[in-house]
This record gives sequence, structure tokens and C-alpha cells, in this order.
Amino acid sequence: MALASQSPRVEHPYESDRPHGMLAEMTDDTSRILASNLLDEADLAIEGSLRPHTLEEYIGQREVKANLSVLLAAARGRGEAADHVLLYGPPGLGKTTLATIIARELGVNIRYTSGPAIERPGDLAAILTALDERDVLFIDEIHRLSRTVEEILYPAMEDYALDVMIGKGPSARSLRLSLKAFTVVGATTRAGRISGPLRDRFGATYRLDFYDEDDLAAIVDRSARILGVAIEPAAARAIARRGRGTPRIVNRLLKRVRDHAEVHGTGRVDRAIADEAMRRMEIDDEGLDSTDRKLLAAIVQKFGSGPVGVQALAAVLSEEVETIEDVYEPFLLRLAFLDRTPQGRIATEAARQHLAGLGFEIPPPRRPEAEMPSLWEPGTGSDRPGEVGLGRLPGDIRFERDGLVVVIPLATMLLVSVVLTIVLSIVGRGK
Ligand SMILES: Nc1ncnc2c1ncn2[C@@H]1O[C@H](COP(=O)(O)OP(=O)(O)OP(=O)(O)O)[C@@H](O)[C@H]1O
Ligand SMILES: [Mg+2]
Repeated sequence: MALASQSPRVEHPYESDRPHGMLAEMTDDTSRILASNLLDEADLAIEGSLRPHTLEEYIGQREVKANLSVLLAAARGRGEAADHVLLYGPPGLGKTTLATIIARELGVNIRYTSGPAIERPGDLAAILTALDERDVLFIDEIHRLSRTVEEILYPAMEDYALDVMIGKGPSARSLRLSLKAFTVVGATTRAGRISGPLRDRFGATYRLDFYDEDDLAAIVDRSARILGVAIEPAAARAIARRGRGTPRIVNRLLKRVRDHAEVHGTGRVDRAIADEAMRRMEIDDEGLDSTDRKLLAAIVQKFGSGPVGVQALAAVLSEEVETIEDVYEPFLLRLAFLDRTPQGRIATEAARQHLAGLGFEIPPPRRPEAEMPSLWEPGTGSDRPGEVGLGRLPGDIRFERDGLVVVIPLATMLLVSVVLTIVLSIVGRGK
């Protein structure tokens, strides 16, 4: 059993489990600057140098910081391991950074691993037994833990206990080993994928949101100071505005703009240099790059502005569905350039106008947008005046002629009959 050294130890994150090949799948341009995930080793190295080390240095996410500082102060005060913390939010918003800060603020060691890296229960057992009192175990992409590994984690998180099976067949028996108290910090981009039992074992869950322009400008300023780049406030703002609400992206933009300033100017970053550098990188005023525009243009031009299923879109763009959902869509949804409906993705009027302004050819939409019910629309009953019937579920048939609306609520009737069957069978069993 390995014992940790006395001073806080910080291991290199993502030893071998980082999906480095992701970018290649994502786009044919191998240097997609606006990708919110990590690109390569160089990216990782520079990121380490820009990472804030204390909560105080961590910019933005005020609510998360306030709650976290109470949690950490309480744990420090009691001299106990802090509650397990789950962090979720899109890539590049500072989850790994926060995990590192948590360990540093507690004055303990941190051990980094990730869901896909822990393949067998034995791998996790080895990690857990090597932890020291109150250490932090950071599990990135925790939604990708396998079922069997998760089951080892439950008693470990709850009772600091490790259940091991000894022997095989009828003579097998379970032995419970006790672990030192520790804190799991889990991170995920997909909170919905975490199983209920695992989620319940976290004492605190924090959602990181996209950063606003002021916070991003402050991050650009801080990074510029660390990198020794002279930057004007207007240039920092220009970078912040195109940073897709993501610290990792503004840091990357800053480095590219600095390169441009060194090659084409005096090295000082002013507004003109920043604008020119971003124009060369084909980043438009809304912070979209050519891949985003390609996605929107595909919906608008090939699918009559949608709705189009994400699978069809993935096929046309030669992308993975997951990449579209995790990497491209969050920001396009946030800009309200994209809408998700039960029938598929829709390019909104704002997206159509943005593309038109850039000279794209914009064919008329296949269906007027107002007709398309949004997936998140409250209530499923009919809200149209003069219309009788339930029919607002996808699959219901509804047509209109000369002011007469006919609704055949097929899907609704099916749902009602399924529910009735279940209720009747439960009532029947009760007798
Ligand atoms: N609040 C912040 N203040 C200053 N810099 C930040 C902040 N949050 C993140 N950063 C910077 O952004 C970079 C990316 O952050 P981090 O690696 O923590 O993101 P992440 O959420 O873990 O991403 P992923 O989901 O890809 O693992 C870090 O190098 C850090 O310098
Ligand atoms: Mg991370």
C-alpha cells in the first residue's frame, strides 16, 4: 500500500486516458481554436500554467465559489474529509481547475483519474487503498464509469469501506476493508448520464455555467499578465466576446492573438491586432468558427432549416453524434441559433440572418417556425382557441382546412391506453 508524501502532491492529470484523437474526428481543420475540449499536450502544459490556484484567484461562478468556500471552511474546521462534490457543465469551464483548488484549499493531496481509465474494480481498489487521510480523488468523466466499478465506489463513498471477494464459487466470501476518509470530486459534462445511486452519494453538486463577457475579459487580463503579454482593455474585450463563454477558449484565443501581434506588430495587443487576428482565424463576430457555420449552413441549406434529426446531421457532417451534442450544440443553443424540438434540430431565424449577413445563400424554411412545438413547451394539452382535443404530443395528427381544425390524437390515445392498462393491472393485482 503506497503512502503519500507529506507535502501536497499534484499528479499530471489525464495520464493516458485523454481522448487526444477527438479533434481529428471533430473537424478536418486540425487546429480548431474554438473547440472547448483540450487539443494536445502543448495545450495541456500551457493550461497548467494559467490555472488559478486558489478560490480567490478563480474568476466568476460566484454562487459556486460562495457555496464551496463554506463547505471547505467547515471541513477544515472539523478537521474531517470534505463532503463528496460533483461538478458538472460543458468542457473548458473550470471543473478540473476547481478540483485542484479544492485539494489545495484543504491542504491535501489530489489524485487524478477518469471514468474510462478505471477499467476493472481492482483498478479502483488500488487507487482507493493508496489514498491518504482526507485526500481528494478527482474522477473526470465520471459518467463513464462502468457498472461494476461504480458498485465498488458506493460503499467506499458512503462508509469508507471496500468490499472484496475472496475465493470463488461456493466457498467465496466477502471481506470488508476500511479505507481512510477521503473526498471524491467527480466531474462530468453530462449530468443526466450519471446513475441515480451514484448522484445520491455526492453531498454537494455544483453546476458550472458559461461565463459572461466581464468575467472572460478578467480571465484574459489575468492570463495576459501571466504570459507577459501587453494587452489593451478593448482587445481583451474583443477576445472575451468571441470566447463562447469559455475560459479555455479565451486563453487559446489570447495565445493566437499574441502570436499575431509578435509577427505582424510590435507584440503589443491592441484592438486592431486582435480583430485582424480573429478575422484570419475565420472567427466571426458572434464567436462562431467555420465548423459552426458549416453545421448551421447544413441545416439551413440541406434540410430547409430543419427540423432534422441529429443522426442525419452527423452523417452529413461526418461527425459523431456525441461530438455534435457536446461540442457544437451547447453554444449554438445558448446563442439561440439552434433549437431542439421533438422532430429534430432547427436553425432559428437569428441563425438564418447571421448566415445571410455573411453572404450564405438562405433558401426559405421548409416549415414556418411558429408551427413547430418546442420539446420544452409547458403542457401538452391543446392551447389553440376553438380547438377541441388533447392532440399536442408528437405523433398526433392535426390538420386544418378553412378554419376547421381536425385533431386525431393517435399518440395521446396510445399513451392514455398504456397508462390505463398499467393502472388496471395494479388495481387487479391488489384484489
Ligand atoms: N474561473 C476561472 N478563472 C480563470 N481561469 C479559468 C477559470 N476556469 C477555467 N480557467 C482556465 O480554463 C482552463 C480550462 O479549465 P479546466 O481544465 O478546469 O476545464 P474543465 O471544465 O475541467 O474542462 P473539461 O471538461 O474539458 O475537463 C484552465 O487552464 C484554466 O486556466
Ligand atoms: Mg477537466
